[in-house]
Amino acid sequence: MAWAHGHAPVIEENPVTQPTQETPQPQPVAAVVVLAAGGGTRMKSSLSKLLHKVSGHTMLSYAVSAAQALDPQHLVVVVGHNREQVLEHLHEIAPEVTTAVQEQQNGTGHAVGCGLVGLEDIQGEVVVTYGDVPMLTGETLQQLVDAHRGAHNQVTVMTAVVPDPTGYGRIIRDGDTVARIVEQKDATDTEAAVQEINSGIYVFDAEVLRLGLSNLDTNNAQGELYLTDVITIANREGHRVGAHIIDDLWQTEGVNDRVQLARMNAEMNRRIVEKWMRAGVTVLDPVTTWIESEVDLARDVTVLPNTHLQGATSIAEGATIGPDTSLRDVEVGEGATVVRTHGELAVVGAGAVVGPWAHLRPGAQIGDRTTVAGFVAVRNASIGDGVTVAPLSYVGGVEVESGTVMQPGAIILDAETIHVNAQPNTPTEEHQ
Ligand code: UD1
Ligand code: CA
Repeated sequence: MAWAHGHAPVIEENPVTQPTQETPQPQPVAAVVVLAAGGGTRMKSSLSKLLHKVSGHTMLSYAVSAAQALDPQHLVVVVGHNREQVLEHLHEIAPEVTTAVQEQQNGTGHAVGCGLVGLEDIQGEVVVTYGDVPMLTGETLQQLVDAHRGAHNQVTVMTAVVPDPTGYGRIIRDGDTVARIVEQKDATDTEAAVQEINSGIYVFDAEVLRLGLSNLDTNNAQGELYLTDVITIANREGHRVGAHIIDDLWQTEGVNDRVQLARMNAEMNRRIVEKWMRAGVTVLDPVTTWIESEVDLARDVTVLPNTHLQGATSIAEGATIGPDTSLRDVEVGEGATVVRTHGELAVVGAGAVVGPWAHLRPGAQIGDRTTVAGFVAVRNASIGDGVTVAPLSYVGGVEVESGTVMQPGAIILDAETIHVNAQPNTPTEEHQ
């Protein structure tokens, strides 16, 4: 099995149909600029906000995956605060992306300008998105681009209608046109009452964006270069500025502090668990069941409470996992039972029974129909089929032949192959 972690997979609710020969390949966008220079001070962390995880993947990896789904000609991530950490992480997950540095956070307009340094002559569409909006999918970005093209807009703003717009830029409309975006701090009471908000995600015609950026000023409450002012400028120049309203509000939601991070994790997990239940997995308690996005579960798997399935874990048909079990990068065979167990980089055979209170450390390979009883630790050991590892044992650096019945309390470390019934004190009953 593959242990390696890629970057974040996207939860597809409506899988995109493969293009057929008749449908022409859509034109890729010219560039996606991911803004990721902000401080994230409310996280109160020495780790960059963008490297905090949602469902096992960094927030930045979701942003990069969504951007990559558009297959843009250029993908630029604008970094600033904590940039050594961010650059190192980007190098791991997506070495092919271009990075641009925004030395001082002078506003979103300034950040996009930094991202476009060196791309002054690009033509076509530029998508702007954020590094801290983990639920946004590539599919949603594609729908935004499609809407932009369908309406022949020069600018399309992704918007949402929310019950509480506090903190967001408000969309000031003139019919179908987005006339302006007013920031919370600059809004009159009437403007502040508008419930349609700016997600901060847009498609711009490159030319219109360039013109707008070169005409920004800092005459606003925050003294910043607002990207949102490009909309006012585009309207003044007679360009079409439209909105694409999105219903799934979570996809516009940023994470600014650890309370929002927990909420985001819970929602992402809720969606993943629901997806598996709809695919034929029994989950007794969805709230205490945590399943990361890369995990694979077969039909008729049962997951009992307080279970955390992480990394590239895969569980085959009919297996029962939990309660109180955490497995990272563990492959579990058909019909196996794994109870109150902690496992990492291990394989459990079909019909095996593991736990309670077993510790499967990296390299533990448990054969088919093998029993790993209570208080057993296994590390880097290949245990054959139909073996009994009795309670309170430690097995590491060894190969155990199929059919072996081990004594309770055995400590077997870096030994030769253990043969059937080769040990003293082996229980006397016949083993098949
Ligand atoms: C911005 C929008 C607002 C919108 C909101 C959505 C502007 C002026 N306002 O608000 O209309 O409703 O996003 O969340 O654009 N960033 C940089 N460099 C900077 C400033 C920001 O890279 O100089 C990045 C941040 O890291 C973040 C994103 O841009 O990822 C948005 O910045 P933030 O300060 O959270 O947004 P607001 O300006 O409050
Ligand atoms: Ca924000």
